Amino acid sequence: MGNMTGRIVRWIILLAVGFGIGSAIGYFQAKIEGGEGYKSDYEKTAEVLKRPEDVPKKIGGAFNLVDHNGENVTQDTYGDQFRLLFFGFSFCPAVCPTELQKVAAIMDELGEAAEKITPIFISVDPERDTPDVLKSYVAQFHPKMVGLTGSQEQIDTVKNAFRVYANKVENDMMEGYMMDHSSFLYLTGPDGLVEALYPSKDTFEEIAADIRKKLK
Ligand code: NI
Repeated sequence: MGNMTGRIVRWIILLAVGFGIGSAIGYFQAKIEGGEGYKSDYEKTAEVLKRPEDVPKKIGGAFNLVDHNGENVTQDTYGDQFRLLFFGFSFCPAVCPTELQKVAAIMDELGEAAEKITPIFISVDPERDTPDVLKSYVAQFHPKMVGLTGSQEQIDTVKNAFRVYANKVENDMMEGYMMDHSSFLYLTGPDGLVEALYPSKDTFEEIAADIRKKLK
């Protein structure tokens, strides 16, 4: 029973954080670009997160992408492995490196159990994240980490399947552009469907403990 209460509390926190971050991003995004394409993405995410108990097994699924060696891959490429997925872009100055370091810490914390998991970084910036760029990028974090990219259409499909929000932000002060993006870490089973969503406030110890339970 205590466990059940814990789960409910965790989902409530996740909901609150999700909506908080979403509303803040939405507000600024709307200010920047009038928020057209953005809103539908945000609404889709919000719709799913309103029923967090429905998230497991309801989002995620099939994908067709290109890995950091330039090979075509699908959800079946990783066999009976669980996957720890993060969506971001290699030019990201702060959030992505922090989250990918966390992924590496989770793998270390899991010890032998990590053999059942493939950590995967999926780019939301395929324009700049070529397989070559991703190859040296993911190698900085974990030897087992896979970097995935693809055509804009392939990336849009996988973003949609995982309810990922990502949008280009131009800024006169910067060279190039930034990608504003959601930052949940996803655990999927070998079937590619989402088993758990972890907001960025979760520590690597908390996430590793939860993954351990799900692997059993
Ligand atoms: Ni990022």
